[in-house]
Amino acid sequence: MNTAMTTAVRALPALYYTDAGVYARVRERVFFREWQFACHVSRVAKPGDFFTFSILDQDLAVVHGRDGKLRCFYNVCQHRAHTLLQGSGSKRLLVCPYHAWSYELDGHLRKAPGTEDLPDFDPSTICLTEVRLDAFCGFLFVNLDPDAAAFADTFPGVETAVRALCPNIETRIFAQETWERERCNWLVAVENYNECYHCKVVHPTFASGVIDPGSYNIAPIDGIRCLRHSARAQSGPSAWYDTSGSDYGSFFLWPAFSLQIYPSGMVNTYHWRPLAVDSTEVHRQWYSPDGTIDEALQKVMDLDRETTFAEDLRLVENVQRGLGSRGYRPGQLVVNPGQGIDSEHSIAALHNWLLETLCA
Ligand code: FES
Ligand SMILES: [Fe+2]
Repeated sequence: MNTAMTTAVRALPALYYTDAGVYARVRERVFFREWQFACHVSRVAKPGDFFTFSILDQDLAVVHGRDGKLRCFYNVCQHRAHTLLQGSGSKRLLVCPYHAWSYELDGHLRKAPGTEDLPDFDPSTICLTEVRLDAFCGFLFVNLDPDAAAFADTFPGVETAVRALCPNIETRIFAQETWERERCNWLVAVENYNECYHCKVVHPTFASGVIDPGSYNIAPIDGIRCLRHSARAQSGPSAWYDTSGSDYGSFFLWPAFSLQIYPSGMVNTYHWRPLAVDSTEVHRQWYSPDGTIDEALQKVMDLDRETTFAEDLRLVENVQRGLGSRGYRPGQLVVNPGQGIDSEHSIAALHNWLLETLCA
């Protein structure tokens, strides 16, 4: 994206956030073709471990094979389509609760009761449908498009940048997750996350507790669909915890995931999951060196939920209502050539990526 734009850039027409036809196209072009976060590797650490999740209406499961390999399958039995696995846990075999067809951890059918004498029944040809899965710094991503470029080729250089802030990030362990349903389109929530023009107005606590707001910037990384947020750590008496060590950085990966590294290497994530054109589930996940929650992490999680997260929730639901107003005319984005906290160049980048993706 050209960050030194000279022409006025306007917000997207409201139908991009409200129209069922656009949403249907986004589902196919964005969520079924781009890399989506599944779970952290620490949630499927041992052979037999599995974790189920969904991308819109597509149910999926990550399974840790006996051979040590992690695979992702559509979570659907190949007999008559019952859901195979529920929740998360550990299994020796994947057994369907409907007629008890069982599958090996690598997805191959092991046994189908009553088929021994069935003519033309060849169990060796039956296998769960596998989905692309790549790991990134300990985070597992999947892509429903078999022809998609590998994750590392989609986001080149990001892992190096993440490791510069948090060198041993892959050793982190999942500690806790919270989620909230927001009555807004996924893009409203993603846009709100990716601009800090509103931070001084709405987020006084975050702006004084974690980061030095004057140093905040959000910049697209050249050539890839990633927005890098950066700021110096807040070191004054208002800091929420001991922020000495590293600065703040977060990496938003198009379309719906952000890896945040708070000062001193406190790792957490945002994941936006569309439920409907005007409904989104936002997951916050927190990680620690051993999977436990110490006093500092508990304090940051609580303050984050009570302040920044709650403040943003009110904003995005209000905006969704406004997008349905007959009186709304999309305004000019505040795209400052010098970027910085009061610029919406990141919103312009998101809009470009959406339009490119929808037209691809
Ligand atoms: S649908 Fe799974 S065994 Fe029949
Ligand atoms: Fe915000």
